[in-house]
Amino acid sequence: MSSLPILYTPDRDIEFDLGSARLRRYRDGDQPSLMRHADDEGVARWLRDGFPHPYTAADADSWVEHASTALAGYVFAIDVGGAVVGSVGLTPGSDVFAWSSEIGYWLGRDLWGRGLAPRALAALTDHALRNMGYLRLFAGVFAGNERSARVLAKCGYHLESVRHAAVVKRGTVYDEAVWVRLAADHPAVLGRASWSAQGSGNEG
Ligand SMILES: CC(C)(COP(=O)(O)OP(=O)(O)OC[C@H]1O[C@@H](n2cnc3c(N)ncnc32)[C@H](O)[C@@H]1OP(=O)(O)O)[C@@H](O)C(=O)NCCC(=O)NCCS
Repeated sequence: MSSLPILYTPDRDIEFDLGSARLRRYRDGDQPSLMRHADDEGVARWLRDGFPHPYTAADADSWVEHASTALAGYVFAIDVGGAVVGSVGLTPGSDVFAWSSEIGYWLGRDLWGRGLAPRALAALTDHALRNMGYLRLFAGVFAGNERSARVLAKCGYHLESVRHAAVVKRGTVYDEAVWVRLAADHPAVLGRASWSAQGSGNEG
């Protein structure tokens, strides 16, 4: 019999209060502020090519449409005073990786250095491990992105491995550092977890 945690479909309208900011569902009207902060090579260079550069009005439209519907509860706008200044979100795995999720984030350059991304990442990490049932969250950091590595370290992630020459971005080859946070290490999950890394789930 499996003793794995149940994977919950999250509340699509859940919000997180970060003090000077909040995480909330995307909505129509977010396009101008999203575009203003996302249209920046200094942001895009550290993200996958799926994050467009230049970031056009059409890109903002299609992201807001997708994030406010199919991705609601997994992807959140980082909202400061009603404006979208960044994003944080989960991309759950499938098949045998269904209890793992990638976690990603970016922030408009005007807001860097204030500890905002760590607060957003910490809130979603806590929610995903404590309430959603994930066993493992991970983020892939391109070599040289020291800011992001620092954010992950501050949020309790550890460097698990380096995937050499895994990334080619704008014609340059990068190693990718894989940073991980496990539910097994989460203080709130620790006590109630009946599974273990060996032999959790169905063995038959
Ligand atoms: C990574 C990012 C989200 C950081 O957001 P932020 O809110 O500015 O994060 P912080 O305020 O915690 O500042 C970054 C930390 O890195 C440190 N840092 C900055 N430059 C650094 C460098 N060159 N080397 C080492 N540490 C550095 C800062 O000192 C700070 O740490 P501290 O609080 O211990 O002093 C933001 O820079 C961003 O959106 N970058 C582009 C997209 C991206 O990289 N996303 C993540 C992909 S894995």
